[in-house]
Amino acid sequence: MNVEDELSLVHQAIKLAEQGHGTAEPNPLVGCIITDRNGVVIGEGFHENFGEEHAEINALNQAGKSAKGGTAYVTLEPCNHQGKTPPCTEALIGSEISRVVIGTKDPHNIASGGIDTLLNAGITVDVLDDALCKELLAPFTRKIQTGLPWITCKWAQTKNGSLETPIGDSPWISSKESQQLVHEERGCIDAIVVGVGTVIADNPSLTVREATPFRTPIRIVIDPNLRSPKEANIFNSEAPTIIACKKGQDTSSFSHCKIVELPSNNGKLELAPLFQHLVSEFDTTHVMVEGGATLFTHIFEQKLANELWIFVAPTVSNTEPIINMNTICKQLDTDCIHKDICGVDTVLRYKINL
Ligand SMILES: NC(=O)c1ccc[n+]([C@@H]2O[C@H](COP(=O)([O-])OP(=O)(O)OC[C@H]3O[C@@H](n4cnc5c(N)ncnc54)[C@H](OP(=O)(O)O)[C@@H]3O)[C@@H](O)[C@H]2O)c1
Repeated sequence: MNVEDELSLVHQAIKLAEQGHGTAEPNPLVGCIITDRNGVVIGEGFHENFGEEHAEINALNQAGKSAKGGTAYVTLEPCNHQGKTPPCTEALIGSEISRVVIGTKDPHNIASGGIDTLLNAGITVDVLDDALCKELLAPFTRKIQTGLPWITCKWAQTKNGSLETPIGDSPWISSKESQQLVHEERGCIDAIVVGVGTVIADNPSLTVREATPFRTPIRIVIDPNLRSPKEANIFNSEAPTIIACKKGQDTSSFSHCKIVELPSNNGKLELAPLFQHLVSEFDTTHVMVEGGATLFTHIFEQKLANELWIFVAPTVSNTEPIINMNTICKQLDTDCIHKDICGVDTVLRYKINL
């Protein structure tokens, strides 16, 4: 098989891995394809559920005895330790596979070492150091290396950069199809964050609706001075809620939710301790910040965002927004990684270079 065909198999394994989003975390998303000694695909698998079989095991189970003499194409270095399941290296060695092609090395100290174990067992190992495999693993790598979750800033805007709906229009900027996409993603992540201005203006529920709730994201409001109304929808019983406020506030009337007190500097809350808390307390992998513009500016200033997910509606607001998201975006160092159409909206994804 030539190099392009092999790379293409690893990239197909990425597509498999992505199917685990929402159920595999906090483990990394991993996909695996196995070919027999003639290069024919005989097994495909991905890590489907946290605590259950890893991608290699699911692919080996499909491949059966024909894996002997074949090759495994796996997006991540096979694990080498006994965790909730036995080491994948053991199963690969037991299958008498000849070669393992690895997309990227494991950044995790506990699980890594798989390459050496395979080599010591006489298996040929090739590590591709592939950019797309690294991208797939980025949220896991970020958590391991920084103690922070992967933070996506998501918003809907008009063509001229406003987050506010034109007066007299529908309360939504984006199309129904775009809202559906957002709900699907909400059902796969760990937490949604908004500013108190959004709670007061829109009274959102921040729940997963008309999509499968693989996870129930924690709702978090950045509310330094505890201005969130007690009757706000974010306090309903449909999901847990955390209010992040300034240290030293009287929190006695907020017994209906969890409070996280944050340090502040010249009136600005430091948000990194909140995200670190989410990782240490809940093993959070993915957080989606849903606005408004004031909160986004704080997140960008504090260099916490990893990704932008922007829904640009074909409308134009008749007033110049106080915070223009088009201007804000130009000030960030980003790479556009995806552009699509959803309903009438243009959907853009940017990776932020931190
Ligand atoms: N199109 C969209 O996707 C979208 C999404 C969400 C909201 N919106 C719209 O945006 C508007 C609300 O946005 P907004 O910018 O006014 O409010 P916001 O960003 O939701 O909340 C801003 C408030 O949050 C607090 N805050 C956030 N981060 C902080 C930090 N690091 N340090 C200190 N305080 C912090 C401050 O509260 P204090 O004032 O108490 O200090 C600040 O005034 C609404 O009209 C809503 O409809 C649109």
